[in-house]
Amino acid sequence: MTKIIDRKFCVAPMMGYTTPYARNLYRILSKKTFLFSEMIATKTLIYSKNNNSIIANKFQNPIALQVGGSEYDELKLSSKLAYELNYDEINLNVGCPSKAVQKGSFGACLMKDKTLVKNCLDAMQINKNIEVSIKCRIGLGKNFNYEFFEEFIDEILKSGIKIVYVHARNAILNGISPKSNRNIPPLNYNFVSKIKSKYPKITFILNGGIDSMDKALQLSKIYDGVMLGRLILNNPFCLKDVDRIFYNQINDYIISENTIKDYFNFIRPKLDKDSIYRLLSPLLNIFFGVPNAKQFKIDIHSKMQEHDFEMLEKIFLKFVKEKKIMIN
Ligand SMILES: Cc1cc2nc3c(=O)[nH]c(=O)nc-3n(C[C@H](O)[C@H](O)[C@H](O)COP(=O)(O)O)c2cc1C
Repeated sequence: MTKIIDRKFCVAPMMGYTTPYARNLYRILSKKTFLFSEMIATKTLIYSKNNNSIIANKFQNPIALQVGGSEYDELKLSSKLAYELNYDEINLNVGCPSKAVQKGSFGACLMKDKTLVKNCLDAMQINKNIEVSIKCRIGLGKNFNYEFFEEFIDEILKSGIKIVYVHARNAILNGISPKSNRNIPPLNYNFVSKIKSKYPKITFILNGGIDSMDKALQLSKIYDGVMLGRLILNNPFCLKDVDRIFYNQINDYIISENTIKDYFNFIRPKLDKDSIYRLLSPLLNIFFGVPNAKQFKIDIHSKMQEHDFEMLEKIFLKFVKEKKIMIN
């Protein structure tokens, strides 16, 4: 049986950002937040030998692996792999509007073919130990169409899945970039409220435009849960408050020298396996909004170029020691 997991607060899948390193930092800061991998194409997951820097999952649970694909056999095998890699959930991406993804017949363009999506979700349900979910938009094109969204959800729920993450804006498949597709189509949370009242037993997690922790908290009281992307990308350290605010845990996490030591201990063995920028970039946001951090940033960038790992750790430790009050 799948574990009972509270998805009140989720970090959205973000390619290039929700790497195993970032996820490790998120997990140091919050034990309860529900995490996502970056999206990985089913073919890459199955056939590439170099996918460890995307899928590695050491102590990051609760976590979902997000895949992109529409071939039933590949999706089935992906579920098996996700289970073997100790993921709690496998999630089908039906929200990404990029041209490359459309070429591969996955992402948001699949919303045009609800039966295909339902069959994909059927194929992914290989056993009861791994949850299967979907992340979708509320529609396609420039105009809102609740009927289209409702019919899509009606069909995909026939697969028996119980969890739907909704990026509550349309995807525009032609003429605008993936980045613009996260800003230009207007948000419409009302679609998520309406579908929830039709399917009260299904978990609908709200995503899109939640740009402060206050907003997230208010919305988490109305919806089954919230999913945040860019706020966490820009300032992962706000995750330190999630266990207390969203899950009523009494222990507050304090950012300290141990945060830095834990993080460096995790990335040290990966030094020859990935770029120093990818390894360190999640930590660079520690400077977010802290005054007079300029010299620290200059030192960090120069030591990154020199690959002086031990010195980098020392600079971060010094920063945290000096600015502890401001960061916490
Ligand atoms: C850099 C970046 C990469 C993203 N990559 C993915 C992805 O791999 N899979 C996915 O479903 N959504 C992806 N998204 C979309 C986010 O998951 C989320 O739906 C979107 O950013 C809206 O949430 P937000 O307003 O809280 O940022 C990405 C977003 C960003 C900013």
